[in-house]
Amino acid sequence: MRADLIIHSSPQLLTIKGGRQRGESFGELNIIEDGALAIGGENIIGVGKSQLIRQQFKAQHEINARGKILMPGFVDPHTHLVWVGDRAAEFEQRIAGASYMQIMKAGGGIMGTVMKTRAASIEEMIASAQPRMDRMLRYGTTTAEAKSGYGLDTTSELKILETIMRLQNESALELTPTFLGAHAIPSEFSDDPQAYADLVSQEMLPAVHAWWLQNFPEEALPFNDVFCEEGAFTLAQSKQIMDAAMHLGFPLKIHADEFAALGGTRLAVDLAAVSADHLVSTPADEIRALGKSGTIAVSLPCTPFGLSAEAYTPASAILEAGGCLAIATDLNPGTAWCESMQFSIALACRYLRITPAQAIVAATINAAAAISHDDRIGSMEEGKQADVLILDIDDYRHLGYRFGTNLVTTVIKKGKVVISDDEHH
Ligand code: NIG
Ligand code: FE
Repeated sequence: MRADLIIHSSPQLLTIKGGRQRGESFGELNIIEDGALAIGGENIIGVGKSQLIRQQFKAQHEINARGKILMPGFVDPHTHLVWVGDRAAEFEQRIAGASYMQIMKAGGGIMGTVMKTRAASIEEMIASAQPRMDRMLRYGTTTAEAKSGYGLDTTSELKILETIMRLQNESALELTPTFLGAHAIPSEFSDDPQAYADLVSQEMLPAVHAWWLQNFPEEALPFNDVFCEEGAFTLAQSKQIMDAAMHLGFPLKIHADEFAALGGTRLAVDLAAVSADHLVSTPADEIRALGKSGTIAVSLPCTPFGLSAEAYTPASAILEAGGCLAIATDLNPGTAWCESMQFSIALACRYLRITPAQAIVAATINAAAAISHDDRIGSMEEGKQADVLILDIDDYRHLGYRFGTNLVTTVIKKGKVVISDDEHH
Protein backbone atom coordinates (compact mmCIF):
# COMPACT_ATOMS: atom_id res chain seq x y z
CA MET A 1 0.00 0.00 0.00
CA ARG A 2 1.06 3.57 -0.60
CA ALA A 3 1.78 5.97 2.25
CA ASP A 4 2.86 9.61 2.16
CA LEU A 5 5.29 9.28 5.05
CA ILE A 6 6.80 6.46 7.07
CA ILE A 7 8.62 7.06 10.35
CA HIS A 8 10.50 3.98 11.45
CA SER A 9 13.07 2.44 13.80
CA SER A 10 11.87 4.16 16.94
CA PRO A 11 13.08 2.37 20.09
CA GLN A 12 9.75 3.18 21.76
CA LEU A 13 6.61 4.10 19.87
CA LEU A 14 4.00 5.13 22.47
CA THR A 15 0.66 4.25 20.90
CA ILE A 16 -1.44 5.09 24.01
CA LYS A 17 -4.19 3.15 22.26
CA GLY A 18 -7.50 1.96 23.64
CA GLY A 19 -9.25 5.17 24.66
CA ARG A 20 -9.34 7.33 27.78
CA GLN A 21 -7.84 5.78 30.90
CA ARG A 22 -9.22 6.03 34.44
CA GLY A 23 -8.69 4.70 37.94
CA GLU A 24 -6.45 1.69 38.19
CA SER A 25 -5.91 1.25 34.46
CA PHE A 26 -4.44 4.76 34.17
CA GLY A 27 -0.90 4.92 32.73
CA GLU A 28 -0.86 2.29 29.96
CA LEU A 29 1.30 3.52 27.07
CA ASN A 30 1.06 0.40 24.88
CA ILE A 31 4.61 0.70 23.62
CA ILE A 32 5.88 -0.84 20.39
CA GLU A 33 9.64 -1.39 20.42
CA ASP A 34 11.38 -0.76 17.09
CA GLY A 35 8.12 0.83 16.06
CA ALA A 36 7.00 2.52 12.87
CA LEU A 37 4.14 4.61 11.67
CA ALA A 38 2.64 5.05 8.20
CA ILE A 39 0.82 8.27 7.38
CA GLY A 40 -1.57 8.78 4.45
CA GLY A 41 -2.90 12.31 3.96
CA GLU A 42 -3.90 13.69 7.36
CA ASN A 43 -4.26 10.33 9.03
CA ILE A 44 -2.40 7.40 10.49
CA ILE A 45 -2.82 4.38 8.22
CA GLY A 46 -0.50 1.91 9.94
CA VAL A 47 1.22 1.39 13.30
CA GLY A 48 3.46 -1.56 14.13
CA LYS A 49 6.94 -3.06 14.12
CA SER A 50 9.30 -1.32 11.69
CA GLN A 51 9.89 -4.39 9.59
CA LEU A 52 6.19 -5.06 9.16
CA ILE A 53 5.21 -1.48 8.35
CA ARG A 54 8.02 -1.17 5.81
CA GLN A 55 6.85 -4.37 4.12
CA GLN A 56 3.25 -3.31 4.13
CA PHE A 57 3.70 0.30 2.96
CA LYS A 58 5.82 2.13 0.42
CA ALA A 59 6.36 5.85 0.88
CA GLN A 60 8.24 8.59 -0.93
CA HIS A 61 9.36 10.12 2.35
CA GLU A 62 10.84 8.19 5.20
CA ILE A 63 12.17 9.38 8.53
CA ASN A 64 14.57 7.24 10.51
CA ALA A 65 13.76 7.80 14.19
CA ARG A 66 16.73 5.80 15.44
CA GLY A 67 17.30 6.55 19.13
CA LYS A 68 14.19 8.71 19.39
CA ILE A 69 10.77 8.02 20.81
CA LEU A 70 7.58 8.56 18.83
CA MET A 71 4.35 9.64 20.48
CA PRO A 72 1.09 11.45 19.77
CA GLY A 73 1.15 15.26 19.98
CA PHE A 74 0.36 16.80 23.34
CA VAL A 75 -3.15 18.13 23.85
CA ASP A 76 -3.40 21.16 26.15
CA PRO A 77 -7.04 21.19 27.32
CA HIS A 78 -7.01 24.41 29.39
CA THR A 79 -5.46 27.66 28.18
CA HIS A 80 -6.30 31.36 28.31
CA LEU A 81 -4.31 31.86 25.09
CA VAL A 82 -5.70 35.23 24.01
CA TRP A 83 -4.71 38.25 26.10
CA VAL A 84 -2.79 41.49 25.68
CA GLY A 85 0.02 42.77 27.91
CA ASP A 86 1.65 41.08 30.87
CA ARG A 87 1.52 41.04 34.68
CA ALA A 88 5.22 40.88 35.51
CA ALA A 89 4.76 43.61 38.13
CA GLU A 90 2.20 41.48 39.99
CA PHE A 91 4.61 38.58 39.95
CA GLU A 92 7.07 40.81 41.81
CA GLN A 93 4.36 41.86 44.28
CA ARG A 94 3.54 38.21 44.97
CA ILE A 95 7.18 37.40 45.61
CA ALA A 96 7.11 40.26 48.13
CA GLY A 97 4.15 38.62 49.88
CA ALA A 98 0.89 39.82 48.25
CA SER A 99 -1.63 37.06 47.45
CA TYR A 100 -3.36 36.45 44.11
CA MET A 101 -6.72 37.24 45.70
CA GLN A 102 -5.42 40.44 47.39
CA ILE A 103 -4.14 41.69 44.05
CA MET A 104 -7.47 40.82 42.42
CA LYS A 105 -9.46 42.70 45.11
CA ALA A 106 -7.24 45.75 44.62
CA GLY A 107 -8.34 45.94 40.97
CA GLY A 108 -5.34 44.15 39.49
CA GLY A 109 -5.35 40.55 38.43
CA ILE A 110 -7.71 39.47 35.69
CA MET A 111 -9.26 42.98 35.47
CA GLY A 112 -5.88 44.52 34.65
CA THR A 113 -5.55 42.20 31.64
CA VAL A 114 -9.20 42.86 30.70
CA MET A 115 -8.55 46.61 30.38
CA LYS A 116 -5.65 46.05 27.97
CA THR A 117 -7.46 43.36 26.02
CA ARG A 118 -10.65 45.40 25.60
CA ALA A 119 -8.60 48.24 24.12
CA ALA A 120 -6.91 46.00 21.55
CA SER A 121 -8.00 45.30 17.97
CA ILE A 122 -8.36 41.75 16.67
CA GLU A 123 -5.09 42.24 14.76
CA GLU A 124 -3.31 43.24 17.97
CA MET A 125 -4.74 40.25 19.80
CA ILE A 126 -3.59 37.93 17.02
CA ALA A 127 -0.12 39.48 17.09
CA SER A 128 0.15 38.92 20.82
CA ALA A 129 -1.17 35.33 20.84
CA GLN A 130 0.74 34.13 17.78
CA PRO A 131 4.20 33.82 19.39
CA ARG A 132 2.63 31.83 22.21
CA MET A 133 1.09 29.44 19.69
CA ASP A 134 4.49 29.05 18.02
CA ARG A 135 6.07 28.14 21.35
CA MET A 136 3.30 25.67 22.15
CA LEU A 137 3.80 23.94 18.83
CA ARG A 138 7.60 23.81 19.22
CA TYR A 139 7.13 22.23 22.63
CA GLY A 140 4.90 19.58 21.07
CA THR A 141 1.35 20.77 21.66
CA THR A 142 -0.61 19.98 18.49
CA THR A 143 -4.12 20.82 19.79
CA ALA A 144 -5.11 23.28 22.51
CA GLU A 145 -8.28 24.56 24.05
CA ALA A 146 -8.43 28.39 24.11
CA LYS A 147 -10.73 30.43 26.32
CA SER A 148 -12.14 33.90 25.98
CA GLY A 149 -12.58 35.70 29.30
CA TYR A 150 -10.48 38.86 29.14
CA GLY A 151 -13.31 40.85 27.53
CA LEU A 152 -16.14 40.54 30.04
CA ASP A 153 -18.65 42.44 27.93
CA THR A 154 -20.57 41.10 24.96
CA THR A 155 -18.63 42.94 22.25
CA SER A 156 -15.19 42.23 23.71
CA GLU A 157 -15.94 38.57 24.38
CA LEU A 158 -17.14 38.09 20.78
CA LYS A 159 -13.98 39.85 19.58
CA ILE A 160 -11.84 37.36 21.50
CA LEU A 161 -13.81 34.39 20.19
CA GLU A 162 -13.35 35.74 16.68
CA THR A 163 -9.62 36.08 17.38
CA ILE A 164 -9.47 32.45 18.48
CA MET A 165 -11.21 31.35 15.28
CA ARG A 166 -8.93 33.52 13.11
CA LEU A 167 -5.82 32.22 14.88
CA GLN A 168 -6.62 28.76 13.49
CA ASN A 169 -5.57 29.98 10.05
CA GLU A 170 -2.32 31.48 11.34
CA SER A 171 -0.72 28.39 12.83
CA ALA A 172 -0.62 24.63 12.50
CA LEU A 173 -1.72 24.45 16.14
CA GLU A 174 -5.36 23.41 16.21
CA LEU A 175 -7.60 25.28 18.68
CA THR A 176 -10.84 24.33 20.42
CA PRO A 177 -12.72 27.43 21.59
CA THR A 178 -14.33 28.05 24.98
CA PHE A 179 -16.55 30.96 26.00
CA LEU A 180 -15.53 32.17 29.48
CA GLY A 181 -17.67 35.28 29.93
CA ALA A 182 -17.85 34.22 33.59
CA HIS A 183 -14.12 34.62 34.27
CA ALA A 184 -14.36 37.55 36.71
CA ILE A 185 -16.81 40.20 37.86
CA PRO A 186 -15.76 43.24 35.79
CA SER A 187 -15.16 46.40 37.84
CA GLU A 188 -18.28 48.11 36.38
CA PHE A 189 -20.30 45.48 38.25
CA SER A 190 -18.35 45.31 41.52
CA ASP A 191 -21.33 46.80 43.40
CA ASP A 192 -23.76 44.31 41.88
CA PRO A 193 -22.07 41.04 40.86
CA GLN A 194 -25.44 39.34 40.41
CA ALA A 195 -26.28 41.79 37.62
CA TYR A 196 -23.19 40.57 35.76
CA ALA A 197 -24.15 36.91 36.29
CA ASP A 198 -27.57 37.81 34.85
CA LEU A 199 -25.92 39.56 31.92
CA VAL A 200 -23.81 36.49 31.13
CA SER A 201 -26.75 34.09 31.31
CA GLN A 202 -29.44 36.28 29.72
CA GLU A 203 -27.55 38.36 27.18
CA MET A 204 -24.02 37.17 26.51
CA LEU A 205 -24.75 33.47 26.12
CA PRO A 206 -27.64 34.01 23.67
CA ALA A 207 -25.46 36.51 21.76
CA VAL A 208 -22.56 34.05 21.53
CA HIS A 209 -24.99 31.33 20.45
CA ALA A 210 -26.52 33.44 17.70
CA TRP A 211 -23.10 34.70 16.53
CA TRP A 212 -21.79 31.17 16.39
CA LEU A 213 -24.71 29.81 14.37
CA GLN A 214 -24.35 32.67 11.94
CA ASN A 215 -20.58 32.36 11.45
CA PHE A 216 -19.78 28.70 12.10
CA PRO A 217 -23.01 26.81 11.39
CA GLU A 218 -21.11 23.64 10.52
CA GLU A 219 -19.01 23.54 13.68
CA ALA A 220 -19.91 22.26 17.14
CA LEU A 221 -20.67 24.97 19.70
CA PRO A 222 -17.74 26.11 21.86
CA PHE A 223 -17.52 25.03 25.50
CA ASN A 224 -18.94 27.27 28.19
CA ASP A 225 -16.73 27.71 31.26
CA VAL A 226 -17.28 29.44 34.63
CA PHE A 227 -14.75 30.47 37.31
CA CYS A 228 -16.54 29.22 40.44
CA GLU A 229 -14.52 30.82 43.23
CA GLU A 230 -14.62 33.27 46.12
CA GLY A 231 -14.28 36.73 44.61
CA ALA A 232 -15.47 35.42 41.22
CA PHE A 233 -18.75 33.49 40.76
CA THR A 234 -20.70 31.88 43.63
CA LEU A 235 -22.01 28.35 43.33
CA ALA A 236 -25.54 29.67 42.69
CA GLN A 237 -24.29 32.04 39.97
CA SER A 238 -22.17 29.30 38.42
CA LYS A 239 -25.23 27.04 38.31
CA GLN A 240 -27.35 29.81 36.84
CA ILE A 241 -24.85 30.39 34.02
CA MET A 242 -24.20 26.71 33.37
CA ASP A 243 -27.95 25.96 33.26
CA ALA A 244 -28.44 28.76 30.73
CA ALA A 245 -25.51 27.47 28.66
CA MET A 246 -26.80 23.91 28.79
CA HIS A 247 -30.24 24.96 27.57
CA LEU A 248 -28.63 26.59 24.55
CA GLY A 249 -26.67 23.40 23.88
CA PHE A 250 -23.19 24.48 24.99
CA PRO A 251 -21.02 21.69 26.40
CA LEU A 252 -19.76 22.61 29.87
CA LYS A 253 -16.50 23.16 31.73
CA ILE A 254 -15.84 24.70 35.13
CA HIS A 255 -12.92 26.18 37.11
CA ALA A 256 -13.57 24.55 40.50
CA ASP A 257 -11.76 24.44 43.84
CA GLU A 258 -8.66 26.41 42.79
CA PHE A 259 -8.63 28.10 46.21
CA ALA A 260 -11.94 27.71 48.07
CA ALA A 261 -14.20 24.65 47.94
CA LEU A 262 -17.58 26.06 46.88
CA GLY A 263 -19.18 22.90 45.51
CA GLY A 264 -18.18 23.43 41.89
CA THR A 265 -17.05 19.86 41.36
CA ARG A 266 -20.40 18.46 42.52
CA LEU A 267 -22.12 20.93 40.20
CA ALA A 268 -19.97 19.78 37.28
CA VAL A 269 -20.88 16.14 37.96
CA ASP A 270 -24.60 16.95 38.35
CA LEU A 271 -24.65 18.82 35.03
CA ALA A 272 -22.50 16.19 33.28
CA ALA A 273 -19.82 18.78 32.45
CA VAL A 274 -17.10 17.55 30.10
CA SER A 275 -14.41 18.62 32.57
CA ALA A 276 -13.82 20.15 36.00
CA ASP A 277 -10.50 21.98 36.20
CA HIS A 278 -8.00 22.97 38.94
CA LEU A 279 -9.42 20.68 41.71
CA VAL A 280 -7.01 21.62 44.49
CA SER A 281 -9.28 22.02 47.53
CA THR A 282 -11.93 19.50 46.39
CA PRO A 283 -13.62 17.73 49.35
CA ALA A 284 -13.50 13.92 49.59
CA ASP A 285 -17.21 13.35 48.86
CA GLU A 286 -17.02 15.41 45.69
CA ILE A 287 -13.92 13.48 44.60
CA ARG A 288 -15.91 10.26 45.03
CA ALA A 289 -18.77 11.64 42.93
CA LEU A 290 -16.32 12.83 40.27
CA GLY A 291 -14.66 9.40 40.16
CA LYS A 292 -17.96 7.75 39.26
CA SER A 293 -18.84 10.31 36.62
CA GLY A 294 -17.87 10.93 33.01
CA THR A 295 -16.47 14.37 33.90
CA ILE A 296 -12.71 14.58 33.30
CA ALA A 297 -10.57 15.94 36.15
CA VAL A 298 -8.16 18.47 34.66
CA SER A 299 -5.23 19.30 36.92
CA LEU A 300 -3.19 22.45 36.29
CA PRO A 301 0.08 21.99 38.17
CA CYS A 302 1.69 25.07 36.59
CA THR A 303 -0.78 27.22 38.54
CA PRO A 304 0.18 26.39 42.15
CA PHE A 305 3.79 26.34 40.94
CA GLY A 306 3.33 29.78 39.38
CA LEU A 307 1.81 31.08 42.61
CA SER A 308 4.39 29.37 44.86
CA ALA A 309 1.45 27.63 46.50
CA GLU A 310 1.83 24.41 48.43
CA ALA A 311 -1.35 22.56 47.51
CA TYR A 312 -1.77 20.62 44.26
CA THR A 313 -4.55 18.42 42.89
CA PRO A 314 -5.00 15.27 45.06
CA ALA A 315 -4.38 12.98 42.11
CA SER A 316 -4.14 9.71 44.00
CA ALA A 317 -7.54 10.29 45.65
CA ILE A 318 -9.08 11.06 42.26
CA LEU A 319 -7.59 7.89 40.77
CA GLU A 320 -8.60 5.75 43.75
CA ALA A 321 -12.14 7.03 43.24
CA GLY A 322 -11.91 5.80 39.63
CA GLY A 323 -11.53 9.24 38.07
CA CYS A 324 -10.14 10.17 34.67
CA LEU A 325 -7.21 12.56 35.11
CA ALA A 326 -5.84 14.99 32.51
CA ILE A 327 -3.29 17.79 32.81
CA ALA A 328 -2.99 21.17 31.08
CA THR A 329 -0.82 24.29 31.31
CA ASP A 330 -3.53 26.87 32.20
CA LEU A 331 -1.42 29.25 30.08
CA ASN A 332 -2.42 32.73 31.31
CA PRO A 333 -0.68 36.00 32.24
CA GLY A 334 -1.62 35.94 35.94
CA THR A 335 -0.76 32.59 37.41
CA ALA A 336 0.95 30.45 34.78
CA TRP A 337 2.60 31.87 31.68
CA CYS A 338 3.79 28.50 30.47
CA GLU A 339 3.37 27.11 26.96
CA SER A 340 5.04 23.78 27.70
CA MET A 341 3.13 20.56 28.37
CA GLN A 342 6.54 19.00 28.99
CA PHE A 343 6.93 21.27 32.01
CA SER A 344 3.40 20.47 33.16
CA ILE A 345 4.35 16.77 32.99
CA ALA A 346 7.51 17.39 35.05
CA LEU A 347 5.45 19.16 37.74
CA ALA A 348 2.70 16.52 37.67
CA CYS A 349 5.22 13.76 38.34
CA ARG A 350 6.64 15.58 41.35
CA TYR A 351 3.61 17.26 42.93
CA LEU A 352 0.73 15.02 41.84
CA ARG A 353 3.04 12.04 42.38
CA ILE A 354 2.09 10.31 39.18
CA THR A 355 4.54 8.32 37.05
CA PRO A 356 5.89 9.60 33.72
CA ALA A 357 3.66 7.05 31.95
CA GLN A 358 0.60 8.35 33.79
CA ALA A 359 1.53 11.99 33.14
CA ILE A 360 1.94 11.21 29.43
CA VAL A 361 -1.54 9.64 29.31
CA ALA A 362 -2.89 12.69 31.18
CA ALA A 363 -1.29 14.97 28.55
CA THR A 364 -2.51 13.04 25.48
CA ILE A 365 -5.55 10.75 25.35
CA ASN A 366 -7.12 11.98 28.60
CA ALA A 367 -6.42 15.59 27.65
CA ALA A 368 -8.14 14.90 24.32
CA ALA A 369 -11.11 13.50 26.27
CA ALA A 370 -11.24 16.75 28.27
CA ILE A 371 -12.08 18.57 25.02
CA SER A 372 -14.23 15.72 23.63
CA HIS A 373 -11.77 14.95 20.83
CA ASP A 374 -10.47 11.57 22.01
CA ASP A 375 -12.16 9.94 19.01
CA ARG A 376 -9.78 11.82 16.67
CA ILE A 377 -6.56 12.74 18.57
CA GLY A 378 -4.53 11.80 21.65
CA SER A 379 -3.22 8.38 20.54
CA MET A 380 -1.52 6.73 17.58
CA GLU A 381 -3.98 4.29 16.09
CA GLU A 382 -5.07 3.52 12.56
CA GLY A 383 -7.67 6.04 11.41
CA LYS A 384 -6.68 8.73 13.86
CA GLN A 385 -5.30 12.12 12.87
CA ALA A 386 -1.54 12.06 12.26
CA ASP A 387 -0.47 14.45 15.05
CA VAL A 388 2.90 13.01 15.97
CA LEU A 389 6.04 14.00 17.89
CA ILE A 390 9.61 12.78 17.66
CA LEU A 391 11.56 13.37 20.88
CA ASP A 392 15.31 13.22 21.29
CA ILE A 393 15.14 10.61 24.06
CA ASP A 394 15.20 6.82 23.82
CA ASP A 395 13.26 6.18 27.04
CA TYR A 396 9.87 7.85 27.62
CA ARG A 397 10.66 8.38 31.32
CA HIS A 398 12.95 11.25 30.35
CA LEU A 399 9.65 13.13 29.98
CA GLY A 400 9.04 14.23 33.54
CA TYR A 401 12.53 13.31 34.69
CA ARG A 402 14.04 16.17 32.71
CA PHE A 403 12.59 19.66 32.74
CA GLY A 404 13.13 23.18 31.49
CA THR A 405 14.47 22.15 28.09
CA ASN A 406 12.64 21.11 24.95
CA LEU A 407 12.98 17.42 24.11
CA VAL A 408 10.78 17.63 20.98
CA THR A 409 12.71 17.69 17.70
CA THR A 410 9.95 17.10 15.14
CA VAL A 411 6.26 17.98 15.14
CA ILE A 412 3.85 16.52 12.60
CA LYS A 413 0.38 18.02 12.41
CA LYS A 414 -2.31 16.41 10.22
CA GLY A 415 0.38 14.44 8.43
CA LYS A 416 2.62 17.45 7.64
CA VAL A 417 6.01 18.08 9.21
CA VAL A 418 5.52 21.55 10.75
CA ILE A 419 8.56 21.71 13.05
CA SER A 420 11.78 19.90 12.30
CA ASP A 421 15.39 20.15 13.35
CA ASP A 422 16.10 18.81 9.83
CA GLU A 423 18.66 16.17 10.71
CA HIS A 424 16.02 13.47 10.04
CA HIS A 425 15.70 14.33 6.36
O1 NIG B 1 -7.08 29.46 35.61
N1 NIG B 1 -8.57 31.02 37.61
C1 NIG B 1 -8.91 31.81 36.74
N2 NIG B 1 -8.23 31.99 35.63
C2 NIG B 1 -6.86 31.77 35.51
C3 NIG B 1 -6.08 32.94 35.96
C4 NIG B 1 -6.30 34.05 35.05
C5 NIG B 1 -5.53 35.31 35.35
O2 NIG B 1 -5.06 35.50 36.48
O3 NIG B 1 -5.43 36.12 34.43
C6 NIG B 1 -6.51 30.44 36.12
O4 NIG B 1 -5.68 30.32 37.03
FE1 FE C 1 -7.90 28.80 33.95
